Amino acid sequence: MCGIVAYVGKRQAQEVVIKGLKRLEYRGYDSAGIALLNEGLSVYKKKGKVTDLEQHLKGKALNSHIGMGHTRWATHGEPNDVNAHPHYSASGKFAIIHNGIIENYSSLKQELLNKGHKFLSDTDTEVFIHFIEDIKEHEQCPLDEAVRLALTRVVGAYAIVIMSLEDPDLLVAARKGSPLVIGVGKDEFFLASDATPIVEYTNEVVYLNDQEIAVINDGKLSIKNTANLPLTPYIQTVDLELEAIEKGGFEHFMLKEIFEQPRSISDCMRGRLDAQKGRLVLGGLREYLAKLTNADRILIVACGTSWHAGLVAEYFFEEFCRIPVEVEYASEFRYRNPVIREGDVVIAISQSGETADTLAAIELAKSKGAIIFGVCNVVGSSIARATHAGAYTHAGPEIGVASTKAFTAQLTVLNMIALIVAQKKGTITEQKLHELLVEMETIPAKVERALKLNDQIESIAAEFKDARNFIYLGRGYNFPVALEGALKLKEISYIHAEGYPAAEMKHGPIALIDEEMPVVFIATNDSSYEKVVSNIQEVRARKGRVIAIVTEGDKLIPKMAEFVIEVPSVHEALMPMVSVVPLQLLSYHIAVMRGCNVDQPRNLAKSVTVE
Ligand code: M6R
Repeated sequence: MCGIVAYVGKRQAQEVVIKGLKRLEYRGYDSAGIALLNEGLSVYKKKGKVTDLEQHLKGKALNSHIGMGHTRWATHGEPNDVNAHPHYSASGKFAIIHNGIIENYSSLKQELLNKGHKFLSDTDTEVFIHFIEDIKEHEQCPLDEAVRLALTRVVGAYAIVIMSLEDPDLLVAARKGSPLVIGVGKDEFFLASDATPIVEYTNEVVYLNDQEIAVINDGKLSIKNTANLPLTPYIQTVDLELEAIEKGGFEHFMLKEIFEQPRSISDCMRGRLDAQKGRLVLGGLREYLAKLTNADRILIVACGTSWHAGLVAEYFFEEFCRIPVEVEYASEFRYRNPVIREGDVVIAISQSGETADTLAAIELAKSKGAIIFGVCNVVGSSIARATHAGAYTHAGPEIGVASTKAFTAQLTVLNMIALIVAQKKGTITEQKLHELLVEMETIPAKVERALKLNDQIESIAAEFKDARNFIYLGRGYNFPVALEGALKLKEISYIHAEGYPAAEMKHGPIALIDEEMPVVFIATNDSSYEKVVSNIQEVRARKGRVIAIVTEGDKLIPKMAEFVIEVPSVHEALMPMVSVVPLQLLSYHIAVMRGCNVDQPRNLAKSVTVE
């Protein structure tokens, strides 16, 4: 949460920073600010979006070759101009931008208050920069050394960049638990929370690791760790096209990403799956494949939509690999002293690869000796680096806060992992494996067909846009899809929605059903079809308004549902990749019709880098 960007070089820093902030706005968007070095060390900040900051900057002389900016998702202190970053040190000679949380900030603040410090904001970040300056003055040391010493006392997560009035070519940055990428150009450097603000200028990057401090001074980059050991910057080439991070004619990133799914699912399978040749390989898995194949139990840790992907994988792994699976909310797992035995293998799923709870769950499982596989979208992300092995989803950048193409790509990877394990274990016949691989290859085309339902779904959305509640019901593989459909709706349209296993409805939620309640059934033709049909009857008997996602050609459900959305037929284990698509579109259209900010819903951020 929060996006940070900084620049030093020959360009106008303001332009690079503002453009970068717009690219990072998905990480937080309640206020934004910029620091530039011109007449002095000037800080401009504003509650609201980056465009509000831009307005605020109009007409000001902002000539500067060095600058940094921040787009905020509030943790300490409400979103307002004062709490926005950057923050000054006590003397005003230094300014900081920060993504993360300083957990021991109140004790540090008290220490500084006792010394006579005065604070303007309610933020932990302002305390952080006062603390650094206090050390600098006390130790009479350079800024980077003061930062290093401060970091040995600070508890929490951070990616920071500091500018100094005393050194017009200096940027000091550090990270622990929050991402920071350094773009290395010709006589210029970029720092950002991810590579999206950088790729326009250079594709040479250095991913800063935890406990590392980067110093950019007079056109040179040096890195050391908090133990004061110098390190050699490891420059990598980032493979990210500019068009992948732009809207490309779509009204919203979310819609673009929903429509990208046929391609993202294909990209995810490319070079890994070829049914004709009987090829199914995931290079990243090889080294630890025996561990996974011989696992007594698989623990899946994730949050939000990625957790839903984990729930689908539970059905898939248990059915085809015959390995018991437990799917855990990372935020619960990390704090409940879980039993992890030899023979357990952990799979961590994360689009961003930066989710703080998932990262902490991984560290905990690692400390107990577990082998961890990562399923991440963002290449080089913290989770991708913290895991022993894994596979990328290759869905391309997902910028809309509501996760869509990441979900279907996660399912694609998880299915491939499970089928590799099943083949190795001999828990699947060659014939069944072939059948599933052939079906997997048909998914992009089937998703394409599901996307053709967009207009129909838009008209259904118009019917329900003013609903106050929604219930989503599904069974078996479609139960997690019901959860995902409900999550999509609530997060972008602010309509209360609940997902339930359809059979569980009778144990409580049925009491909510009356003639105003929309109930979305994911009722495709699978092994629980007849049971779901009975559940639909039960809802109809109570006058609930049924919207049913069914398999093309279904003759029965159209007779009982008010609205029917027909998706192509596919093996039930693969159906979530198709049946989720109408639900993504339904929530999208409802949110648009309600005038909601689809890509940047209130109170949310794309990467939840605080717990
Ligand atoms: O980046 P991650 O997959 O780890 O993110 C997990 C959740 O924060 C994320 O899926 C969130 O629930 C989305 N907003 C859902 O659309």
